[in-house]
Amino acid sequence: MILAFTGKGGTGKTVLAALTVLELTERGAGDLLVIDADPDANLPDALGVEPETTLGEVRERFKREIEEEQLPPGFDKQAYMEYLVMTALHETEDYDLLVMGRSEGRGCYCAVNHWLRRVMSELLPRYDLVIMDCEAGLEHVSRGIIDGVDLVLIVVDHSRKALNTARRIVELIDELESEVEDVRVVANRVTDREYRVIRREGERMGLSFLGRVRPDEELVELELRGRPLTELPPESKARTDLREILSRAGVL
Ligand SMILES: Nc1ncnc2c1ncn2[C@@H]1O[C@H](COP(=O)(O)OP(=O)(O)O)[C@@H](O)[C@H]1O
Ligand SMILES: [Mg+2]
Repeated sequence: MILAFTGKGGTGKTVLAALTVLELTERGAGDLLVIDADPDANLPDALGVEPETTLGEVRERFKREIEEEQLPPGFDKQAYMEYLVMTALHETEDYDLLVMGRSEGRGCYCAVNHWLRRVMSELLPRYDLVIMDCEAGLEHVSRGIIDGVDLVLIVVDHSRKALNTARRIVELIDELESEVEDVRVVANRVTDREYRVIRREGERMGLSFLGRVRPDEELVELELRGRPLTELPPESKARTDLREILSRAGVL
């Protein structure tokens, strides 16, 4: 199963992705791959791990070596590329983490996105479960990163803008006929009173909700102290609420 967190920037994609990894690893979820597909990567911090390199960096190395003709004639480009990708895979006891990163300099992310798509088709079948933290906005939909995902979770907060982004993501998925099994909305950092309004408004836009995660003071405290979210206790509000959502989604 592939699960992707998307939505407007700042709504809580990275937090929910990290806490999902935490819930899964504490239960022993089988072979788990975690992908930070946001060029402004901060999932490793949330998880408290420090991968040495990113997909963007190994791709730069590959490009440089080709351009400077550092590689022996007739060598197997594809095999070398796969080897480089494996070096970007950060292995922990509980899961493997791949950070997409970005291209060097001014270039756009197209090239890294292209690599990511190729890598995904190679890597994904090796895992039981894949968790992706996507870039904010619509890019991952238009670039096909989302194709093949079983459950897209769009995160919204109490803002109208976040609901509008959610609606546009759903529309784009439909328009591009992306191969996505299910698309659901999660409201994050909202009170129950706020959630009732958000859900009503969102449903009017045709959005389908899985639940809400309440504002969590313990989580804010960890963030302020620069601590990883893996230190959040199981009975905290955010983890309790997320567990409910994940079981409703059939992930736990
Ligand atoms: N349920 C919550 N309660 C309190 N703070 C939260 C909650 N969810 C997210 N935050 C805070 O909101 C900020 C943005 O979250 P983040 O996951 O980085 O957003 P995104 O990845 O969507 O840009 C973070 O500083 C995080 O600590
Ligand atoms: Mg993020």
